Amino acid sequence: MMKWVTVTVLAYFLRGILCRESCGDKKTIFGAVGREVILPMSQTATRDITWMTVRSKDHFATTNPGEIDVRDYRYEGRLSATANGSLRFTNLTGDDQGEYIANILKGNMQCKQVYSIQLRTLSQILGENVLPSARAWVFQHHNDPKHTV
Ligand SMILES: *[C@@H]1O[C@H](CO)[C@@H](O)[C@H](O)[C@H]1NC(C)=O
Ligand SMILES: *[C@@H]1O[C@H](CO)[C@@H](O)[C@H](O)[C@H]1NC(C)=O
Repeated sequence: MMKWVTVTVLAYFLRGILCRESCGDKKTIFGAVGREVILPMSQTATRDITWMTVRSKDHFATTNPGEIDVRDYRYEGRLSATANGSLRFTNLTGDDQGEYIANILKGNMQCKQVYSIQLRTLSQILGENVLPSARAWVFQHHNDPKHTV
């Protein structure tokens, strides 16, 4: 009996350590109010992904491939899971901007992925789309044969 308690305690302790291991760099996802974003899994064959807000440590959802359990009523109806367990937010609100942690279980290993949702306004998004074509114009103009002799 005592032995099992020790093993169980040890297992939880180890899991706690593994939990702190990072799955990768923080991923920044841009979105806009009323639109949708996906917080993507970069790993395959994951399960029991617990999603938390960094700000209040609120464990608001758990996903599995194609399945979601929403635990916080404030997110009800706005969250879904994709085929690989990524989290989809629809109808974004201003409050959704911020950082999130996914604790991801793969085999017996657990790792932590941090995401940041950043909201942008329509004009910011349009500004970014205009810029590359303006840059392309400058580049073409600069390489015009007339100027290179
Ligand atoms: C999981 O799905 C999301 C979108 O549904 C995609 O962006 C991501 O790349 C996928 N991950 C893997 C490891 O295939
Ligand atoms: C999106 O959120 C707004 C404000 O919370 C709400 O009025 C609207 O009905 C929601 N739309 C959908 C499609 O859920």
